[in-house]
Amino acid sequence: MLKLQDVQAFYGKSHVLHGVSLDVEDGQVVGLLGRNGVGKSTTLKAIMGLVAVQSGSITFAGHDLHRQRPYRIPRLGIGYVPEDRRIFPQLTVLDNLRTGFDRRGAAARTEQLLEQAYGSFPRLKERQRQLAGTLSGGEQQMLAIARAMMLDPQIILLDEPTEGLMPRLVGQIREIIDVLRQASVSILLVEQNVPMTLAVSDRVYLMERGAIRHEAPASELSVDDDVIHKYLGV
Ligand SMILES: Nc1ncnc2c1ncn2[C@@H]1O[C@H](COP(=O)(O)OP(=O)(O)OP(=O)(O)O)[C@@H](O)[C@H]1O
Ligand SMILES: [Mg+2]
Repeated sequence: MLKLQDVQAFYGKSHVLHGVSLDVEDGQVVGLLGRNGVGKSTTLKAIMGLVAVQSGSITFAGHDLHRQRPYRIPRLGIGYVPEDRRIFPQLTVLDNLRTGFDRRGAAARTEQLLEQAYGSFPRLKERQRQLAGTLSGGEQQMLAIARAMMLDPQIILLDEPTEGLMPRLVGQIREIIDVLRQASVSILLVEQNVPMTLAVSDRVYLMERGAIRHEAPASELSVDDDVIHKYLGV
């Protein structure tokens, strides 16, 4: 469904992705792990058209993403929750969700998507009139994910959703991932939290210095301490 082949990407003259290849199949949860600065976020930005891809290919459901204008990519069915979440703290929960709508969509459809989001995240419905900036960290992450769901994506890219969260809230993110899985949404999950990623993923890629160095089913990696230690140092 989503496939990256030998993707090379740069920030100005700085060569950051040195041939990244990975794929996510329909309905799969795929983890992408690696130490700080190896290029995980850049890989997601490359998919979303937010960084200069010099060569290689990125395809999604028959579309060549490399040839798309960045603003069109979410509309093809790819949701993206960046590291900094980018919710609007001065807007209510409801208004934040409204910013996720595709404005060309029918009103009835957008209402339906809103009800779907509230069905998946009842806590957000309870707090729909609350200013987003006053939500807890876990609730803000939930809101960022719910907003990405407003475009009814087939796949969602999550960049370190558990970053900065207490262990109890990490459990909530796990539940959210399960909710997405139930809704048949594929997930590409960038994380630093190794146990959580191994627990929720079908397959995991390990990244080092701008390339994928290892790929395995999560169940296999869970028992392979040597590989985990080599690439992640834990
Ligand atoms: N806008 C930018 N301009 C120049 N260099 C950048 C930019 N963004 C990231 N980089 C560099 O690209 C490399 C990869 O960064 P990236 O953010 O993809 O890492 P990461 O794997 O997501 O790390 P982390 O786990 O810390 O979030 C790093 O060396 C980083 O300093
Ligand atoms: Mg990152």
